[in-house]
Amino acid sequence: MVKKFEGKSVVVTGAGLGIGYGLCRAFASEGATVALNDIDGNLAQEGANRINQEIGSEQVHAYGCDVADVESVQRMFADFVAKTGSVDIAIANAGITNYGEFLDFTPQAFDRLTGVNLRGTFFTAQTAAKWMIEKKTAGRILLMSSVTGVQGFLNLAAYGMTKAAIRMLARTITVEIGKYGITVNAICPGAILTERTLLDDPNYESNWAGVTPDGRVGYVEDIVAAALFLASPEARHVTGQTIIVDGGWSVQSPLPEDHPDKPEFSSQLR
Ligand SMILES: NC(=O)c1ccc[n+]([C@@H]2O[C@H](COP(=O)([O-])OP(=O)(O)OC[C@H]3O[C@@H](n4cnc5c(N)ncnc54)[C@H](O)[C@@H]3O)[C@@H](O)[C@H]2O)c1
Repeated sequence: MVKKFEGKSVVVTGAGLGIGYGLCRAFASEGATVALNDIDGNLAQEGANRINQEIGSEQVHAYGCDVADVESVQRMFADFVAKTGSVDIAIANAGITNYGEFLDFTPQAFDRLTGVNLRGTFFTAQTAAKWMIEKKTAGRILLMSSVTGVQGFLNLAAYGMTKAAIRMLARTITVEIGKYGITVNAICPGAILTERTLLDDPNYESNWAGVTPDGRVGYVEDIVAAALFLASPEARHVTGQTIIVDGGWSVQSPLPEDHPDKPEFSSQLR
């Protein structure tokens, strides 16, 4: 059976764990050659080894580097393109989630957060686009935003700001590089069960299921499904967009405690 991404080369940043790892695993399983990046080189190597062993083929290459370090990102792309000949799909997934009250947030924390989430995303996308243009590849660039870049969220002022900016980046660069056949889209995950979020809250799954309209937390495969679609040939006319994958969490509006339309008070139409 022909695999969906056979012959394609894919770069995923921040992929030693969590969503990024799931993306690498999915694209490699669908036949792609993958650059698995993580700031932790050992984690990147372990992740690449695990996927290669699972699929029985050396398709995943590990790259240990910090996405905030633009020269390292450029070197990673150059090395990967030297191996594969092109980059077809680039996913700027690396991002750090630093919680902190707005009034206490420090300039140092702000600079690191924006360094990874904004500088890292911007220059990963720019480096990918340059290679796609040079190699005449009608490529796909995916940016990882968040529902906290759509809705206000407690203690995530700086993080939410970066994630809103990332959605805007997809819109603006589409205007500049659409003519090369490159599409750029953002994905906004809601609450996704990963190693990190489970560590933050052992009851993450049930806690988020309780406040999400579809009654479940998000899983890595929910984000992977959106990414596989946006990277597919079928999505060639979808660009500059943001897909929110959150079970409906961000479309809700809070009601007052004793609002008459709450189901416990009334289910009658008035
Ligand atoms: N998990 C969620 O619920 C959720 C929700 C909304 C958005 N997101 C976004 O999705 C993306 C992935 O989230 P996650 O929870 O899977 O990630 P995560 O926090 O588990 O991190 C994944 C990997 O990224 C690596 N990383 C951190 N900083 C890096 C850097 N500067 N350069 C390269 N690698 C780096 C880490 O070492 C880690 O292995 C992030 O951009 C995050 O903001 C996640």
